[in-house]
Amino acid sequence: MRTRRAALATIAGAASLPFTLSACGGDKGSSSQGGGTIGIAMPTRASERWLTDGKSVVKNLESKGYQAKLVYGDDDPKAQVSQIEDLVKQRVDALIIAAIDNESLNDVLEKAAAAKIPVISYDRLILGTKNVDYYVSFDNEQVGRLQATYIIEKLRLEDGKGPFNIELFAGSPDDNNTKYFYEGSMHLLQPYLDSKQLVVQSGQSKLSDITTLRWDGPTAQKRMNRILAKSYANRTVDAVLSPYDGISIGVLSALKSYGYDSDRKPLPIITGQDAELASVKSIIAGEQSQTVYKDLRQLAEVAANMADDILKGRTPRVNSRRAYNNGVKPVPAYLLQPTSVDKSNYNYVLVLGGYYTADELK
Ligand code: GAL
Repeated sequence: MRTRRAALATIAGAASLPFTLSACGGDKGSSSQGGGTIGIAMPTRASERWLTDGKSVVKNLESKGYQAKLVYGDDDPKAQVSQIEDLVKQRVDALIIAAIDNESLNDVLEKAAAAKIPVISYDRLILGTKNVDYYVSFDNEQVGRLQATYIIEKLRLEDGKGPFNIELFAGSPDDNNTKYFYEGSMHLLQPYLDSKQLVVQSGQSKLSDITTLRWDGPTAQKRMNRILAKSYANRTVDAVLSPYDGISIGVLSALKSYGYDSDRKPLPIITGQDAELASVKSIIAGEQSQTVYKDLRQLAEVAANMADDILKGRTPRVNSRRAYNNGVKPVPAYLLQPTSVDKSNYNYVLVLGGYYTADELK
């Protein structure tokens, strides 16, 4: 059966690297409804979520009468910079950017500012530049808290159970979200590490020891293999904190190759994020335990509304209680709420919520 991911990849035209889609074609401002053109720079097509993001942002902009130029940087920061440079040269009216490397866009955003092109930082905060106008994302610390809470509840740590072995994974070191996910989780897990109800047998728990460059599943799989070989010859791992579904799938592969998923060695609790199709299926099959669902339709809608408001001279709605400082200035932000999903509620949240059809999850 064709997966949703495969279908989306086909739409995205998987052959061309790096990929550019001119959603409506035509020149700037030539939309029949006179909306103008908005450049969208997404980080990668290797993860299903970003394909969904790209499609949803384009759809929202088109429904408001804009043309959209969507590009994917395929996880290459330099390629993303040159794609954004091209969009600036084409004099798009606004830019919506999900950065690959959050500190690599300084120069190109100077050019955007010189051309008076407003910039919306999408999902990942762009750091180290004054030339970013708004930020739209989810409450990223809450994502980490939901993952940690799941582990705490399933292991019944509040009832004093333990000790349990846990291993920790974090996201890409060049993505600002990585820090928020990690801090959100560790804030809740640290007391149990201190009380030794949770033990990290690998000894790797500092953020710099546990990051996964570009959120790459096979990289996480290799690290998990090394950990299992070195620290688990005579013990079992009870929980894995994973910040993202692609990493969870890599960790699961490593665990299976070490004999987990059997009566003698059940799989540990494994968290995740993004409710990607493969992971939701894995949850239904009883392998991955949990994911954090972020409704990308909402994220895309808020981003498109922000662009529309800016271009029509209105002030976009923001809602974050504390300023998101990018190292140069506080960036006004709109944050959405994530939801924890496991086997018990996936049908209610994802199927009844219209994110996947029941057929897609078969
Ligand atoms: C993060 C994003 C996560 C996940 C990850 C890997 O920036 O917030 O939801 O998608 O990238 O793509």
